Amino acid sequence: MSSGTTSASTQSSQDLLPAVPLLALDRQYAVLRDEIQVAIARVCDSGRFVLGPDVTALEEELARALDVPHAISCASGSDALLLALMAIGVGPGDEVVLPSYTFFATASAVTRLGATPIFADIDPTTYLVDPADVRRKVSRRCRAIIPVHLFGRTADMDALLPIATEAGVPLVEDAAQSILSSWHGRCTGGLGDIGCFSFYPTKNLGGVGDGGFLTTTRDDLARSLRLLRVHGMEPRYYHELIGINSRLDSIQAAVLRVKLPHLDAWTTQRQANAARYRELFASYDLGGQVTVPTDESRGRHVWNQYVIRVADGRRDELRKHLAAHGVGTEIYYPVPLHVQKCFAHLGWRPGDLPVTERAADETLALPIFPELRVDEQHTVVVRIAEFFGVARRPVGKPKAATLQPPHFLRRIVGRADEVIS
Ligand SMILES: Cc1ncc(COP(=O)(O)O)c(C=O)c1O
Repeated sequence: MSSGTTSASTQSSQDLLPAVPLLALDRQYAVLRDEIQVAIARVCDSGRFVLGPDVTALEEELARALDVPHAISCASGSDALLLALMAIGVGPGDEVVLPSYTFFATASAVTRLGATPIFADIDPTTYLVDPADVRRKVSRRCRAIIPVHLFGRTADMDALLPIATEAGVPLVEDAAQSILSSWHGRCTGGLGDIGCFSFYPTKNLGGVGDGGFLTTTRDDLARSLRLLRVHGMEPRYYHELIGINSRLDSIQAAVLRVKLPHLDAWTTQRQANAARYRELFASYDLGGQVTVPTDESRGRHVWNQYVIRVADGRRDELRKHLAAHGVGTEIYYPVPLHVQKCFAHLGWRPGDLPVTERAADETLALPIFPELRVDEQHTVVVRIAEFFGVARRPVGKPKAATLQPPHFLRRIVGRADEVIS
């Protein structure tokens, strides 16, 4: 089937569909603009730009929101991972087991400390690290396991925690994409030994620049992390440990404090958007071509990304079609870490992690941000159906509110943001 099978009349009405950005941070900012400006001005007036009262208050508020005893801010999610591995003493000769299907920082934190990343494959449905492969890859040299709660969904902690316990190694959660996600009622970040979070602007709680934080239930690790982020210094100019400079800016903290009270509602909106996509996709006969993501029954999925799988090698073609019609998408991630050039010396080959490699070739992230409008979601699905030449199901149970043909046909100029990581 080709993309040129739509009738002239359908074609003309579809030309009126709005452009849909992958992410529109300006919509969130428009609502909070005045409060954010006041918060930034307050920091500038105070003359306290690094750490300080806003950072301390943010850490307390995050600890309450996630129900963990310790939240420790730092300069980025990448630094959070590095600090976590430093705190548990990862170094040369050690191995750390982690997925290859993740953002680069999960693995680079390991190599920056002279240790070796051991890549595990993923589950083909959830895209999360496969506990059975983790178990196979834990050797005597293993010093930590890092599951990644990718796309906002918690990795299978029922299976992973016993593996870490049996191996006698800490479990570091890469929760950069999963703030407020949970597992049997407990937030990610408080499930393993240390949780690592990112405030990168595309995250569910994003700052106005880089930032991150760590969580832990362990007092000893909390103390080490607080020291390590300030060059191991306590008191001033006395260095107990060799740390790094990874402090959160006060302006970031002040802005994040304005946003944090909204995070739960934004998350609920993401969940509603995911449910709506599911209904919309079900109303088209796309089963053979598009696989939509499933929800998680054992915890809260916070939908940082909504990632579909596209069959028959047509992912890139579909992406081009969507881009041509102003629909923003992204590929997370096109090249798995085990076959990245910078890790060639580790000796991994294409074919070593087949499920990961297939996901890298077939997955596509669609817009899911909280302010996404219903008409925009309809548009995304209509454009995908149009590409595959698939009509709405003639039979079945169209739900009046969500499955009626879009009645909003008007031209709205959108913006496909440049989004990374
Ligand atoms: C899974 C994952 N880990 C780590 C990071 C690193 O976070 P940051 O960009 O704040 O350094 C990111 C952010 O992109 C991420 O998605």
